[in-house]
Amino acid sequence: MRRVLTLAVALSLVGGFALANNFAPKKSVKEVMKGAFAGETSLVKKVLSGDASDEDKKLFLDYLVDMVENDAPKGDGIEWKVQSGTALLAAAKVVTGRDGSLDELKAATNCKACHDKFKGK
Ligand code: HEC
Repeated sequence: MRRVLTLAVALSLVGGFALANNFAPKKSVKEVMKGAFAGETSLVKKVLSGDASDEDKKLFLDYLVDMVENDAPKGDGIEWKVQSGTALLAAAKVVTGRDGSLDELKAATNCKACHDKFKGK
């Protein structure tokens, strides 16, 4: 049931995206990857460890906003909005401190699962 609800929310987000596709992301996906995902001491690892400050959690959420506002270099556009939007939703739940949100974020930020579908060569 929870998964269904999460998906419904993600899909309604996508509906909004499809209607208003005039975003101007501050950062490209590459910049988001370098700033928040890449490396041993990445922001995503810090957030997932549960030790991040509120400021770091918000910074991470802001990176994910930019990620979702971009298009991916590869793969289906709507699927990209669902997958990146699911990560955004999980990050928002981490910021508001919802139960189980770290597990949701971990699942939604699986590097390989996303790269296989949406990262170019
Ligand atoms: C929701 C999808 C998604 C997730 C999750 C994700 N990535 Fe990425 N990543 C991408 C996409 C899309 C690109 C390709 C960007 C481009 O070429 O414009 C990329 C590119 C990269 C790059 C190359 C950046 C460059 O300079 O070309 C690195 C490094 C990277 N990701 C690291 C990671 C790591 C480490 C994780 C997991 C902790 C991760 N990513 C999780 C979507 C994702």
